[in-house]
Amino acid sequence: MNIRQATVDDLIAIQNCNLLDLPENYQMKYYLYHALSWPQLSFVAEDDNGKIVGYVLAKMEEEPSDVPHGHITSLSVMRTYRRLGLAEKLMTQSSKQMTEVFNAHYVSLHVRKTNRAAIGLYRDTLKFRYEQREGTIGVHEIEKKYYADGEDAYAMRLTFKETK
Ligand code: ACO
Repeated sequence: MNIRQATVDDLIAIQNCNLLDLPENYQMKYYLYHALSWPQLSFVAEDDNGKIVGYVLAKMEEEPSDVPHGHITSLSVMRTYRRLGLAEKLMTQSSKQMTEVFNAHYVSLHVRKTNRAAIGLYRDTLKFRYEQREGTIGVHEIEKKYYADGEDAYAMRLTFKETK
C-alpha cells in the first residue's frame, strides 16, 4: 500500500471511489477545481498494483474574515481496505501540507451524525473537536439538516495553531 499526492490523472478513479462509498457526489469539474487550485492537499491510497483504493479531497478556505484554514471536502476508503490505517494516513498527510504550504491554523469538516466510523476516526484517533455554534436555542454542535436527505451534521475542527 502506498499513499501519494493525487494528480489530475487520478480524478476518475477518485470519483469512482466516491460514488461507491458516499452519497455526496460531485461533478468532475469540482474534483478538477481541487486538483488545480490546491494540488498539494489531496492524496490517494493505492494498492500494490497501483489501483486507487482511497482518497482525501481537500481545499483551503481563505475568507478575509477568518485565519487561513483547510477543509476536508471528502474522504473515503474502499470497503475491503478499511481498518488498515489508510484514512488516518491520508488525513495526516493532507493536514501536514495545509500547515506547511498554506500556513493553515486549523482544518474543518462536516460528518453525518450517524457516521460512527468517521466520527471514531476524527474524534478519537485524530483528536478533532466538535465546533460550537451559536443558535436560537443556545450553543450547540449540530448543523440541522445539513445533508440533502435531511440528516444532521457535526461540524468538527482540528486546531494546529491557537489564534490570539
Ligand atoms: N468503527 C469505529 N471506529 C472506526 C471505524 C469503525 N468502523 N473505522 C475507523 N475507525 C476509527 C478507529 O479508531 C480506527 O483506529 P483502529 O483501527 O486502530 O481502531 C481509526 O478510525 C483509524 O481507522 P482507519 O483504518 O485509518 O480508517 P479507514 O481507512 O478504515 O477509513 C473511513 C475510515 C474513511 C471512515 C471509512 O470507513 C469509509 O470510507 N467510510 C465510508 C465513507 C465515509 O464515511 N467517509 C467519511 C465521510 S465525512 C467526510 O468526507 C468529510
